Amino acid sequence: MPFEENTTTKILVIDDDPAMLRMVCSVLRNIGYDVFSAKNGNSGIEEFKKESPTLVITDVHMPDISGIDVLRSIKKDSPTTQVLVFSGVGTMDDIIEALRLGACDFLTKPFNLKLLIHTVNRCVERNELINDRMNRHATLERLVVERTAALTNTFYETVKALGRLTELRDPYTAGHQNRVALLAVGIGRELGLSQSELEIIHVAGLLHDIGKAAVPVELLVKPSRLNELEFELIKYHPQSGYDIIKDIPFVESLGKDVSIVVLQHHERLNGTGYPNGLSDVEIELESKILSVADVMEAMSSHRPYRPALNIDVAMNEIRKNRGGGIHRNALMPAWNFLPGTIITTPYCSNR
Ligand SMILES: [Fe+2]
Repeated sequence: MPFEENTTTKILVIDDDPAMLRMVCSVLRNIGYDVFSAKNGNSGIEEFKKESPTLVITDVHMPDISGIDVLRSIKKDSPTTQVLVFSGVGTMDDIIEALRLGACDFLTKPFNLKLLIHTVNRCVERNELINDRMNRHATLERLVVERTAALTNTFYETVKALGRLTELRDPYTAGHQNRVALLAVGIGRELGLSQSELEIIHVAGLLHDIGKAAVPVELLVKPSRLNELEFELIKYHPQSGYDIIKDIPFVESLGKDVSIVVLQHHERLNGTGYPNGLSDVEIELESKILSVADVMEAMSSHRPYRPALNIDVAMNEIRKNRGGGIHRNALMPAWNFLPGTIITTPYCSNR
């Protein structure tokens, strides 16, 4: 770096020895630095606060406070400011303490002027390197925050799009997954689940019936009861949903495999659910909460094959099956959360 380009680099020199102060200031001005001075430690700290120099050069032994105290004060207020310490009677303890506190170097008087210039230039360059590194870190951190926000937004919009795709085939349940997701998150919040657990429930809710894409549309919109064979086809949709989304890296983004939650959303505590007839502890908590929300939302929505029911009927339906068809721990908060006034029957959410 040519010395002529140093005019914007401010250097503060602190020394109670007037001759030494003049000499150091003169040498550094001659090579292009913007140099100012202070005659003792306290006035040096005041000058530092006013001028914010790039480099502070301070003597150790001064009548008011020591250069070590000056160094400590500057590093406390401005950790990245470079401080070069020199002393005529410096002990090894002074040197070690100065370096421990973050001094960029230590010179012992009398020092060679070429060594002074070399050391000062090196401290200034060190400051530039640190600033460059901090700027790069700040830029990278900003980019990470922006890209993460963009990816998160893309992730949720993709999930919602997948959910809407499913519901296109079944207009009677349009909006069902979104409402189930909101209701399940409300229940989870009442249960005191963490933000990441609520996000898992939200995403699982938005996708829980995606497996209906594999169900013939005639069955989805059939305006009468399904026969046994038809219902068997419907019962396969949790497995289809799992197969569709199982390769999405949910564990990396949400910390848990959402496809498992989707797979289990029709399992029941007493083992009467499907597709695998799991019971109680075998079922994920998120799936238990989702099943309560799924049933409540389904009963509160109109279907061509059954009328909507009053909220009290739906709540009684869930109470009646408490500990069997739905998770007992998820029940109580649901009482407080449910906002609807109309419901439908049966507690199986698919028909
Ligand atoms: Fe379902």
